[in-house]
Amino acid sequence: MINMNVPVNEPLLNGNEKKYLLECIDSGWISSEGPFVKQFEKNLAAYLGRKHAIAVSNGTIAIDIAIDALEFKEDDEIIMPSFTIISCVLGLLRKRCKPVFVDQQPDTWNMDVDQIERKITSKTKGIMVVHIYGLPVDMNPVLKLAGKYHLKVIEDAAEMLGQDYYGKKCGSFGDISTVSFYPNKHITTGEGGMVFTDDDRLAERCRLLRNLCFVPQQRFIHYELGYNARMTNMQAAVGLAQLERIEESILKKRRIGELYKERLNDNTYIQLPLAQKEYARNIYWVFGIVINSDYHWDAQSAMKELSKDGIGTRPFFWGLHEQPVLHQLGYHSDESFPVSELLSRRGFYLPSGLAITEEQINYVAEKVNKIFT
Ligand SMILES: Cc1ncc(COP(=O)(O)O)c(C=O)c1O
Repeated sequence: MINMNVPVNEPLLNGNEKKYLLECIDSGWISSEGPFVKQFEKNLAAYLGRKHAIAVSNGTIAIDIAIDALEFKEDDEIIMPSFTIISCVLGLLRKRCKPVFVDQQPDTWNMDVDQIERKITSKTKGIMVVHIYGLPVDMNPVLKLAGKYHLKVIEDAAEMLGQDYYGKKCGSFGDISTVSFYPNKHITTGEGGMVFTDDDRLAERCRLLRNLCFVPQQRFIHYELGYNARMTNMQAAVGLAQLERIEESILKKRRIGELYKERLNDNTYIQLPLAQKEYARNIYWVFGIVINSDYHWDAQSAMKELSKDGIGTRPFFWGLHEQPVLHQLGYHSDESFPVSELLSRRGFYLPSGLAITEEQINYVAEKVNKIFT
């Protein structure tokens, strides 16, 4: 087999993206005031069955705004997974809230919802769920606890647009939910994100926060610290075109995952993503693998080996409880989160972008099987 270059992710922009972008240029509507922004919000809200959608400039700021809108106070505790991107915790730390971590499940790689209740104290004000890599978090127990203890649910569905939990769309479960449109996501706008809620007041707060907390009646007088997190009309134009093809993209993602699974299934040195749980079929946002703990390579060495064959990979997240910046900020805990720690060290993902071909998947799988023998 000849050597190939297989990037870790390449987006597909082969629908109406160019046409809508040209409309922006021809009409001169390039800022956030343009009509595609509202249209994109409206269509995505309808897709998820949500009352309000607020388009923003990336998925990280979507979480910041969600946290800000919920008005958490200093020392409030929010229960969340340690194994996630730092974006999930930044807004909490800036508000001087306390992240309280739980570990992951070893099979789904999602937060272990059975660990949540014992972490609840009188200071707990919310639960943040983050759907990781392809399967949703088991939401029913989370929603039950949130109801029982009157906690807010923040749902980070950045990786899970198009996925369902018992037939209900991810992104529709939180008091506030967020997504990202970075190019490796199921819908991309280059950079971008969105916040969703059914609560009129929260939606109003998110819109204010997105736009520097300008008050319409008194322009340039501000009562709160806001953000400039506006999405441009050009980003929304691309997003709208992408949304038109979401079902096709999800089918393709599942096909990529199934092809990898067929080709790697007999390899006993690596753990593959679960194909399904009773509540959802895997959507394979990325195709992750976890190297068995007794194998002589960790993720870094395996990734280096695959890069020699032109194969792009990315490491799994590094647990938040192990982040130097959190330690510098005073987050110290003698807790260990063994699953999170194992996933960070032994997990990485293979090229899984929407533009990948079957030939490239065959090539990657063959090389993976060759190095893990
Ligand atoms: C789970 C999760 N949350 C948040 C984000 C942040 O999104 P963005 O890169 O758009 O800021 C990402 C990004 O990949 C993510 O995977």
